[in-house]
Amino acid sequence: MKVGVIGAGSMGIGIAQIAATNKNDVFLFDTNQDTIKKSLDKLAKIFARLVEKGKYTAQESKAIIGRITPIDTLDNLADCGLVIEAIVENLDVKKSVFTQLEEICSSECILASNTSSLAISAIAGACKNPERVIGIHFFNPAPLMPLVEIIPAIQTKEEIVLKSKSFIDSWGKLTVLTKDTPGFIVNRVARPFYGEALRIYEEGIADFATIDWAMTEIGGFRMGPFTLMDFIGNDVNYAVTESVFAAFYYDPRYKPSFTQKRHSEAGWLGRKTKRGYYDYTDSAETPIPNKDKELGEEIVWRILVMLINEAADALFLNIANKEDIDTAMTKGVNYPKGLLKWADEIGINKCVNKLDELHDIYREDRYRCSLQLRRMVMKSLTFY
Ligand SMILES: NC(=O)c1ccc[n+]([C@@H]2O[C@H](COP(=O)([O-])OP(=O)(O)OC[C@H]3O[C@@H](n4cnc5c(N)ncnc54)[C@H](O)[C@@H]3O)[C@@H](O)[C@H]2O)c1
Repeated sequence: MKVGVIGAGSMGIGIAQIAATNKNDVFLFDTNQDTIKKSLDKLAKIFARLVEKGKYTAQESKAIIGRITPIDTLDNLADCGLVIEAIVENLDVKKSVFTQLEEICSSECILASNTSSLAISAIAGACKNPERVIGIHFFNPAPLMPLVEIIPAIQTKEEIVLKSKSFIDSWGKLTVLTKDTPGFIVNRVARPFYGEALRIYEEGIADFATIDWAMTEIGGFRMGPFTLMDFIGNDVNYAVTESVFAAFYYDPRYKPSFTQKRHSEAGWLGRKTKRGYYDYTDSAETPIPNKDKELGEEIVWRILVMLINEAADALFLNIANKEDIDTAMTKGVNYPKGLLKWADEIGINKCVNKLDELHDIYREDRYRCSLQLRRMVMKSLTFY
């Protein structure tokens, strides 16, 4: 199949690489031709390293890169069976690209968006034939992260959903199906990983290093929340939090934090500016965490129970099924365990009690327990 990729930035080139590696002819478009060139140069360097490591032969690498054709007009996408858009995160610009694609591509072609935060139904709504529009959401770096969220718009035909899913599965990716709601699965369920950690810091319970130590050493997470936010970039992570908060009609559960806002405003964006929650300059001293076990366990428990609550609520609202919610968090953001499986292991009643304790102390809606968990306790149910 011929695959079109629009946008040759960090996501677009990664998606093009996956498609080409899976023997599809790829047509890559970007309004900035220089970006295509730079991205293809970078890709050539990546493959040179992969050849050195013995992952590919020089011939295979040449064939993969050779399957990606840069194009300078969308008209060249006419023969594609699938077009994936990965351009700037702006609804009006995306709508305009999709309405152009409708005129160019055959009626059989699936039109997909890789958007992280925009409604697929809104993009589809701009089209004359919205039933073939769908969200296919890769994670960064796309060639390495196994998870892909498949997001039908409310207008998408079932046949398009099945075709898209089986196509992306055939690329060796793990697909999960999610409703077209803000943050889909991962960017919704993961909010407390950052938000609750920031809250714990703001209350003076622990510093960044201690929270990160607790989450990695005791919680088993690959990266602590502050290290991860510095890695993602405080500007990017803050923007996602703010957009999810607004998209949920300002539900206090998703309230952004002033600490992150100030870091972002100060230009303390993280690794990319050598200063975030931590100092990344050569002479910087590594902050020492307070390795108090009791404090560490309390930090992990509070963040974890908020994550479990979020995952349970996503299930309650039919955002996805329980298997897909757990897969999304283990394969999209490398959590050590699926959150619902984790809840079973801890005990649902213990989760409800902790959430109620937080809600009683704070009297904030942020800590309200999902009805999913409460009902499960009443009926002595577990997730699995
Ligand atoms: N970066 C991530 O971690 C990540 C993860 C998942 C999804 N996404 C989503 O993927 C999309 C792209 O993100 P990115 O990080 O690759 O951005 P990026 O800024 O690296 O690349 C975007 C590219 O799109 C090009 N572009 C802009 N308008 C265009 C148009 N009208 N037609 C063609 N090309 C155009 C730009 O020149 C740029 O090269 C966004 O929708 C984003 O939400 C990003």
